[in-house]
Amino acid sequence: MARYPQGLSALLPALYVAQREAGWLPAAALQDVAQLFGLMPAEVEEVASFYSMFNLHPVGEYHLEVCTNVPCQLRGATGCANQLKQALGVDYGETTPDGKFTLDHMECLGACGTAPMFMATERATGKIRYFEELDAAEKVEQALGLIGSGQGFETCERYPAGPYRHGGMEPRYLLANVDKPDSHTIEVYIRDGGYETARLALTTKTPKEVLEEVKAANVRGRGGAGFPAGTKWGFLPAGVYPRYLVVNADESEPGTFKDRMIMEYDPHQLIEGIILAAYAVECKQAFIYIRGEYYFATTRLLQAIAEAGARGFLGKGQFGTANELDIIVHRGAGAYECGEETALLSSLEGGRGHPRLKPPFPAVEGLYRKPTVVNNVETICNVPHVIRHGAAWYKQFGTEKSSGFRIFCLSGWVKRPGLYELPHATTLRELIYTYGGGTPDDRPVKAVVPGGLSMKLLTETQLDTPLDYESIQGAGSMLGSAGVIVIGEGQSLVEVARRTLSFYREESCGKCTPCREGTSWLEKILIRIEAGEGNLSDLDLARSITNFVAGGRAFCPFGDAAVWGLQSHLDKFRPEFEQYIREKNPGLDRPEMPLRPTYRPSTNAAELD
Ligand code: FES
Repeated sequence: MARYPQGLSALLPALYVAQREAGWLPAAALQDVAQLFGLMPAEVEEVASFYSMFNLHPVGEYHLEVCTNVPCQLRGATGCANQLKQALGVDYGETTPDGKFTLDHMECLGACGTAPMFMATERATGKIRYFEELDAAEKVEQALGLIGSGQGFETCERYPAGPYRHGGMEPRYLLANVDKPDSHTIEVYIRDGGYETARLALTTKTPKEVLEEVKAANVRGRGGAGFPAGTKWGFLPAGVYPRYLVVNADESEPGTFKDRMIMEYDPHQLIEGIILAAYAVECKQAFIYIRGEYYFATTRLLQAIAEAGARGFLGKGQFGTANELDIIVHRGAGAYECGEETALLSSLEGGRGHPRLKPPFPAVEGLYRKPTVVNNVETICNVPHVIRHGAAWYKQFGTEKSSGFRIFCLSGWVKRPGLYELPHATTLRELIYTYGGGTPDDRPVKAVVPGGLSMKLLTETQLDTPLDYESIQGAGSMLGSAGVIVIGEGQSLVEVARRTLSFYREESCGKCTPCREGTSWLEKILIRIEAGEGNLSDLDLARSITNFVAGGRAFCPFGDAAVWGLQSHLDKFRPEFEQYIREKNPGLDRPEMPLRPTYRPSTNAAELD
């Protein structure tokens, strides 16, 4: 509690400790935690019950959670899940009779490029390990054998160990270090010039000079919205302190897995970026809000922060100057909504991850109601390169409005899924065919999600679209987090649409009605279509409901994100849905559901009375 400006921020960490000690979170554990914080047990339960990583029921010695979200689904997650069910003799939500394994399915775990996969949590220690590339029965068996032997958690590095597949332009910048032996250590980072940029900036430049350089480079946010980082930094009100920098490492958008690689295999690049950004915005305390499932990345970050502190790059008197900076790594606990910046701040303050109304924007009233900058991991990692080489150098990559390079996450039905660092405006075709090798069986591409699962589908005819913010928008979608998910001809969009809506129904924070109810109704309609009980009018009904959720009607951007994909499914691939319904339900014998009449707000005062 003493580490945080406000003690309540320690609530999630305390719940992790309680869960580790008790094995789960029984009422007695919640009461103990409540007492520590001076809260009612119900207030603690309110928070704990929001996050999927807190177990309010007992689980086995090893909790296995297999990802079944769309990118994994496209690469055989169902087969992997069935293997696990068969080997353990249990279904989802069940524990083996000896109490050893509990099996569950899970939403995207940031390993889409190495799908199919599952995450295992060791109850006694709270340690988490990822088991990836489980595309054959023997690999699933090996993974289970390792866990069952008690040796599975000696290291929490992913299994199989090492950085996952990556490539792209030459030379690379953001992914330049990840292959070097011991790339995560400060010795390796310093050997190749690491921290020199931060040292020079803090000793020879003013904060304003650093900020102006980033602004001139037009580094746009890599988390989803694409807002220019330098402009955001410039919104902080003059003379108001303290200020906070919060790094959004809650990478949860299905199809996105780039920040994980940086934090696991090049954590010092992020720390150097944080030092520069914090200097530019004049803050002394920074936070890395990292998704709870990224246990290995958390251990790497903590080690890196300790190393940087020991060298005098963090703490008081950074690089021999009068500056100081403290970095706190804060683990989330399983909630997609916490990727939204205001929900993230609510969570960091010790509450449920509920969004806040904007304005006020975080730059004016953010963490603890103080001016706060929230930036994505990759955005911050661009900063050392901009300051080292200059804005003009950076702008030679990409386009005028979408400058620089970025890491594209390629997943789904491609030969070589992985991370590809490329300049903006590389075309989808080049990414998928030149880097990704095309589809595994050379079948044509049917559709592509260009920016994480929330974004609208593009069709095969749009593969020559350049991957920059403006071009993708011009094509009717958004670049978002640059998570490119490829769907091959023959893969069922009915399944993809249903699984997508199941995800959003599961992850809706429940705060506002259009999102909470809309995602639930849509999922139900898609389930009945998938089950062969659909009617053609269900397609109109579903499309109509999406209009009541999208268009800014939800409290935060989640609502739009939840239904954009489905809108594009129904607008661009309606014949596939119709054919599916006709084939599966030839009688079309279920009575048609009436369409809700279009909502028409009344302007008649008497009527309102
Ligand atoms: Fe399975 Fe991302 S890790 S979809």
